[in-house]
Amino acid sequence: MTASPAKARSGPVLCVVGARPNFMKMAPILRAFAEHDPPLPALLLHTGQHYDAAMSDKLFADLRLPRPDINLEVGSGSHAVQTAEVMKRFEPALDEHRPACVLVVGDVNSTLACTLVAVKKDIPVVHVEAGLRSYDRKMPEEINRVLTDQVADRLYTTERSAGDNLQREGVAAERIAFVGNVMIDSLRANLPQARPAADTLRAHGADPALLGGAAGYGVVTLHRPSNVDDPALLRRLLGVLAEVSARLPLVFAMHPRTRGNIQRFGLQGLLDPGRVAILPPQGYLEMLGLMAGAALVLTDSGGLQEETTALGVPCLTLRESTERPITVEQGTNTMVGSDEQAIRDGVAAILAGLGKRGRVPEFWDGAAAGRIAADLHRWLQAGAP
Ligand code: UD1
Repeated sequence: MTASPAKARSGPVLCVVGARPNFMKMAPILRAFAEHDPPLPALLLHTGQHYDAAMSDKLFADLRLPRPDINLEVGSGSHAVQTAEVMKRFEPALDEHRPACVLVVGDVNSTLACTLVAVKKDIPVVHVEAGLRSYDRKMPEEINRVLTDQVADRLYTTERSAGDNLQREGVAAERIAFVGNVMIDSLRANLPQARPAADTLRAHGADPALLGGAAGYGVVTLHRPSNVDDPALLRRLLGVLAEVSARLPLVFAMHPRTRGNIQRFGLQGLLDPGRVAILPPQGYLEMLGLMAGAALVLTDSGGLQEETTALGVPCLTLRESTERPITVEQGTNTMVGSDEQAIRDGVAAILAGLGKRGRVPEFWDGAAAGRIAADLHRWLQAGAP
């Protein structure tokens, strides 16, 4: 092989978002690109995987994300249909805009779909939040993570264990940069504007007095297919939440998948509306306000595990595994799976004052996006080797 002098890659960074958890990651990245000296030109592309006002538009407004330059409007479908639709519609966008590279975040279907299209057109791919592994291949997100990281060219990690995972999978160390967590950039930037929990309840016709008891209140989110698609399991989980709510009032911000399944399986009666406020999916500032004031959070989300660690709020994660082990090792997270007794015990420990206090992990400091901008600028100047 003959070495030729590297040629800087020109053109915009094509930044891809598709679903709710992508939006809070992209907002600080776009801001850091604009503030970098020199600014990094960027285009924002929304695949339209999440399209509800509550799942998408409201979050764009809260996060002050610019209107997408390109919207592929793919909508819902099976994994195959959704992934294929994104791929079909993304290819002409690449041909038209000829970016210097494509930047993807997280682990949703849009992340993998856009990565596959770009690498096969010889356009470098940059993955933010690379290397996280639950080692549970039944999670669609795990498949998206593993495949995206295998073919992406530059990999930005949020915790050091992610770099170890990547190297075990044969990714060269030179492709990996530990930059910290852009989710926490968003959290820090927006916490002062967080909406008080009482206002959020009032806005949805729920009684804010629910929040006022001595123990405070808990926040619940559940949407993983593994928890909410099986009628017997969903019934058991709602049953244990009903028990918890007798001690601690709950605010349940309900994903459309979960709401649909509760109706389909006829489980509406399980939660006492006097103890559990069921709200639609919340905006970012509402969710921050709810979490920041909570005694505990019960969730199967990836992002909430990180946000509760940054906020110092105890979190019980209703999953068997986590791809974010630092939230357990250093943060406030405890894995309880779908085991009813583990959930009961976890709640009891927190209410007895024994919840994890945790500490904020390395580089979860609000400056991760700036580190990405600086590194990406250097990398593109060097020809994206
Ligand atoms: C997706 C991501 C998941 C992420 C989650 C956060 C994948 C594989 N999964 O899962 O990683 O944690 O988003 O929300 O990409 N729906 C609506 N309105 C919407 C979007 C979806 O009603 O705006 C409905 C769909 O019709 C479908 C269900 O919600 O029935 C699931 O949507 P989908 O995008 O397939 O996956 P999520 O479960 O949201």
